[in-house]
Amino acid sequence: MGGSRSRGLVECALISVLVMAIEVAQTSSANMFKPFNVSYDHRAIIIDGKRRMLISAGIHYPRATPQMWPDLIAKSKEGGADVIQTYVFWNGHEPVRGQYNFAGRYDIVKFVKLVGSSGLYLHLRIGPYVCAEWNFGGFPVWLRDVPGIEFRTENVPFKEEMQRFVKKIVELMREEMLFSWQGGPIIMLQIENEYGDVESPYGQRGKEYVKWASQMALDLGAGVPWVMCKQPDAPDNIINACNGFYCDGFKPNSYNKPVLWTENWDGWYTTWGGRLPHRPAEDLAFAVARFFQRGGSFQNYYMYFGGTNFNRTSGGPFDITSYDYDAPIDEYGLLSEPKWGHLKDLHAAIKLCEPALVAADLPQYLKLGPKQEAHVYHVGIDIEGLNLTQYRSESRCSAFLANIDERKAAAVTFLGQTYYLPPWSVSILPDCRNTVFNTAKVGAQTSVKMVDFDLPLLAHFSAQKQSTIHNGVSYISKSWMTVKEPIGVWSENIFTVQGILEHLNVTKDHSDYLWYITRIYVSDDDIAFWEEKEVRPTLTIDSMRDVLRVFINGKLIGSVIGHWVKVVQPVQFIKGYNDLLLLSQTVGLQNYGAFFEKDGAGFRGQIKLTGFRNGDLDLSKSSWTYQVGLKGEFLNIYTMEENEKAGWSDLTLDAIPTTFSWYKTYFNSADGTEPVALDLGSMGKGQAWVNGHHIGRYWTLVAPKDGCQRICDYRGPYNSDKCTTNCGKPTQSWYHIPRSWLQASDNLLVIFEETGGNPFDVSIKLRSAQIICGQVSESHYPPLWKWSQSDFNASILINDTTPELHLRCDDEHVIASIKFASYGTPQGSCQKFSKGNCHAPSSFSVVSEACLGRNSCYIGISNTVFGSDPCRGIVKTLAVEARCVSSSNNVGALKL
Ligand code: GAL
Repeated sequence: MGGSRSRGLVECALISVLVMAIEVAQTSSANMFKPFNVSYDHRAIIIDGKRRMLISAGIHYPRATPQMWPDLIAKSKEGGADVIQTYVFWNGHEPVRGQYNFAGRYDIVKFVKLVGSSGLYLHLRIGPYVCAEWNFGGFPVWLRDVPGIEFRTENVPFKEEMQRFVKKIVELMREEMLFSWQGGPIIMLQIENEYGDVESPYGQRGKEYVKWASQMALDLGAGVPWVMCKQPDAPDNIINACNGFYCDGFKPNSYNKPVLWTENWDGWYTTWGGRLPHRPAEDLAFAVARFFQRGGSFQNYYMYFGGTNFNRTSGGPFDITSYDYDAPIDEYGLLSEPKWGHLKDLHAAIKLCEPALVAADLPQYLKLGPKQEAHVYHVGIDIEGLNLTQYRSESRCSAFLANIDERKAAAVTFLGQTYYLPPWSVSILPDCRNTVFNTAKVGAQTSVKMVDFDLPLLAHFSAQKQSTIHNGVSYISKSWMTVKEPIGVWSENIFTVQGILEHLNVTKDHSDYLWYITRIYVSDDDIAFWEEKEVRPTLTIDSMRDVLRVFINGKLIGSVIGHWVKVVQPVQFIKGYNDLLLLSQTVGLQNYGAFFEKDGAGFRGQIKLTGFRNGDLDLSKSSWTYQVGLKGEFLNIYTMEENEKAGWSDLTLDAIPTTFSWYKTYFNSADGTEPVALDLGSMGKGQAWVNGHHIGRYWTLVAPKDGCQRICDYRGPYNSDKCTTNCGKPTQSWYHIPRSWLQASDNLLVIFEETGGNPFDVSIKLRSAQIICGQVSESHYPPLWKWSQSDFNASILINDTTPELHLRCDDEHVIASIKFASYGTPQGSCQKFSKGNCHAPSSFSVVSEACLGRNSCYIGISNTVFGSDPCRGIVKTLAVEARCVSSSNNVGALKL
């Protein structure tokens, strides 16, 4: 009786929990969409029965904090995105086999719901191999230890693990009602990632694997289409998609599939010691416009926001922690201008064409010149035979006019009208008549981000804070503590074996660091031999990656950096026993290539000491003691709870720089909302933690002096070496500390430093767009929103075709001063403007009146606005440079 009664109660409780769960689910899906179906045909993805032209924004949720997500999604939507795309990061979700993590930055359900409740769709790329410059391409490192496993091929253990995880994610999404047919935002999925690029080394088994992966995915019954990118042999019911800098020539492997571009690389990733990539906005817009011009229907920016590789999530090897990617939203969540604004205009132009683009099954191609062409989307008529009256009454006609000449502009005639096309550009004509946008004409503002404190901000700091400011730099603290990291063995958790073990087999990637320790006996004869022959013994290692530090008797005698490089390190021994310590380090695990799980890390081949009297010593067979990781790491001395236990002592200025040291200090956070960066430019290599949050590895490696072009010419095909910046400077000095990890005061900063640096020079920077510029001429097009509001049924018409210059500071910032304003023929570019022969005297007052004290403003580019025509018969331009400050400093700033 009792049993059944209590069972009844449990049941009752269960039912009410269920009812609540359903209610919650219904509420959340009610916040999103009415359930809708997704399918596709040869032309486009079909959403709720309608073909769509879709703009997608790549954002990887763990590369930001949940507190940043809403703003990133809102900025994507405002920029014109319809879809957010993300990978799913297996190693983040299942750090230990069977133990899942869906919390914090890995709260994927929350992320997907935020996307849905913003009215955006989601493309979920489950992989679960994702590449992504993410540690081990997203695979958990424990996967290597599954008996008999071979990754990404016809292999039962691998298939079982892969299926288990993919199923887990699909089921989670289904339970949370996140698929479109449940009223959620997920319209599309992805299985695998660019497998086509590595398939051939796997032979027949690779082909079988593709078939298996597709069928496995489809069998999960997710009810939305699946994509495989770069997979020319994708089976019939999976869409093969394109990735690259350009995808306008791409044809899927069947007529029944639409043309999708899953990764438009709008910048590139960066490795330590590398230059910073920059893809010009004009070329990026050109690539996107060409894609839609030539039949594309879904395009995703990889990345729209790149973010940060916190913790040890960077892949590589050698990928830096910043994954800024030169994306339209920068690493810190601020708009990257003019990229963001120029693409926003482009998206609005494409949206104006959408009715025609979806109505036509194919564009009509017209050759306009040797390197000029038009693609016209219209229904049921032949454009070439049309007269002007006919096409005007044609309700759905949109055209793209391209000039693919890399050098020269061209004037072309299209439907009886002349169009001027800058080199390497596309003009978009949503009504086959009016150009509303040209990819090479940037009307959007340029923003220059600054990270130094500016004077007005100082008013907000306490006396204590101000005392750490010298020469305009805010050093984080004047008092630091330090503790040495032991060289070699620090725990009882060590073992000794004969021979060299593979690095990852020992560390399981719980740490970057692995100590290999052995003892060398040096006789009197050896010493005499070296003196007599004037030679030094040399340590040679056939091959190693990523960083090796060699210690003899506790002293660091050499370092080697490389990816499977040979080591030749002269050494010096004393008579008797010598401790030889090799510290092998990983700097992000491999994330790309066939068989990359077999790569391992650390050493390969023989380790020898050459130059001994009795010949070489083969150390590969010696007895080695292994110690994984650092003492400080394993005692968590970077956390609020554990750090006191570490035996810190005060750091004095004369005690630096030292190697293998921990440093800690406490600091107060800066007021305001600007993103915060830690400037570690004074340090060498290591890792840093703030309030126990691992902000990542740092390394002050300098980029090559040469290879950055003086002028970045947008024309011609882009590659990741074109237009790079930052030559001769450290690749990365600033490290993002998300605001949500900071408290007002007493933030704990702990740094582990390997090579020596000066913590007293560590400073904190607030990042914001302090300088904004605009440059718009009479020959620019009117703002896109004006067209968007016009009646689209016939040809689009607007009364007022005045171009406008728009300026906007970051949120909670206002324009505090106008540094330059000239309506006439100003010369130069942002921060280098100068007046030309023609200049309207009212320029400064008109701009000041419109903009000062405001977060955003606009000025019409016309003589009327500036009182009179300053130079008749000449095309006039307005150029403005303005300065933004935090709104709370506005009053003070205006007085400056
Ligand atoms: C692609 C890959 C992405 C990313 C990109 C480079 O090949 O699919 O995950 O690694 O390259 O940023």
